[in-house]
Amino acid sequence: MRDVILLGSGWHSPLFRAEVNSLVGSLETLHPRMVFATVDESSMDLLTKSSLVESALHSSCRLWAASGISSMELAEKIGEWADKFLPNGKFAVRARKFGSGIEGLSRRDVEIESGAIISSSSKTVDLLDPEFEVVVIMAGIADSPSHPDPFFQKDELIVWGIKENIISGPYNSISPTERPFFKPVTLDPRLARLMVTLSYNSGHRPKAIIDPFCGTGGIAIEAQKIGLEVFASDLDKEMVEGTRRNLAWVEGGGNYTVCQHSADSIYDKWGQIPGCAFVFDPPYGRNARASEDSFEIIMGALNSASQMIASSVCMMLPTSPEFLDGNSSSDLEVVGREWGEVSAAFLSNGWEVSSRHIVRVHKSLSRMLLVCNPSD
Ligand SMILES: C[S@@+](CC[C@H](N)C(=O)[O-])C[C@H]1O[C@@H](n2cnc3c(N)ncnc32)[C@H](O)[C@@H]1O
Repeated sequence: MRDVILLGSGWHSPLFRAEVNSLVGSLETLHPRMVFATVDESSMDLLTKSSLVESALHSSCRLWAASGISSMELAEKIGEWADKFLPNGKFAVRARKFGSGIEGLSRRDVEIESGAIISSSSKTVDLLDPEFEVVVIMAGIADSPSHPDPFFQKDELIVWGIKENIISGPYNSISPTERPFFKPVTLDPRLARLMVTLSYNSGHRPKAIIDPFCGTGGIAIEAQKIGLEVFASDLDKEMVEGTRRNLAWVEGGGNYTVCQHSADSIYDKWGQIPGCAFVFDPPYGRNARASEDSFEIIMGALNSASQMIASSVCMMLPTSPEFLDGNSSSDLEVVGREWGEVSAAFLSNGWEVSSRHIVRVHKSLSRMLLVCNPSD
């Protein structure tokens, strides 16, 4: 087991923390986009497959209520720490500001002064090709978030540690337009990856990922890339063939099966897969057939999830942009119905909402990302 500080991409801090929580279990929030966790090797491996974890620091040290400290005082503290924790070799100090940063501390001064104090005959500065990067985060009061965040940053904080080389930036995929089969309904790969990782339960890998509305295979591709078995289906033959082409092209590690089926009857095709996770982006508006209502289609998929003994369901639903103002009233709309009605219907079908997050798509469009678990 080892202790790490994980840094989020900054795009959606509550979702970054939710993702870490599902991949590694318990965590301590230090700042909206900075958490502390104790992880084993397999959790560390999962973090390398995350969507929103930008980097990880080990051998870290933190300093609360840091306002008023000078860059020289900070450099001395970092120097004492480096004597104990920084291995001999070539190193670089990289300082970053989160939020407003800390008054009186410039990144440049912290880098130069810490570098000078640490450097010795056995530890030499090499900014271009360091063996070790000492990352110093100067986290002031967080910027006003672009998505509602219940965590409020009260105190300034400075954290430093050695960067883990295995996580190099948030998930970045080639554009879906480069795939053999593309349609505008394709889910953004970063969101698709996030929905798959949110279906892990404190690091417990789902038995398989089921996407009953696979479209072009956006979710199936991300699940397969990280080695999960995938069962994908769609009512539309063109989508089924397109998903097959895309999955063959990706050459991920997981097995996959794709078939043409209606979401409410896939149990007849695949039977029980206890411990699987349903992950989907259901049809709405123009994607739903005129005779069908999106809500009823989703309820059909939830029924299939119960029959197949799924342990979690992660879905993304169109919703009212007012949620983005922090309003969580139960009469706001989700899939064209009041949220209170939708969540009650899920519950009476055996699915309890465990977490929900609003994602801004653009100014007047947002989506609700939901994770549900069996209610009994
Ligand atoms: C929003 S798209 C999914 C997009 C997909 N996540 C992607 O990345 O391409 C919804 C899909 O649901 C399919 N669909 C509509 N009604 C369905 C039903 N009753 N059962 C199964 N699939 C259905 C549509 O053909 C469409 O491909």
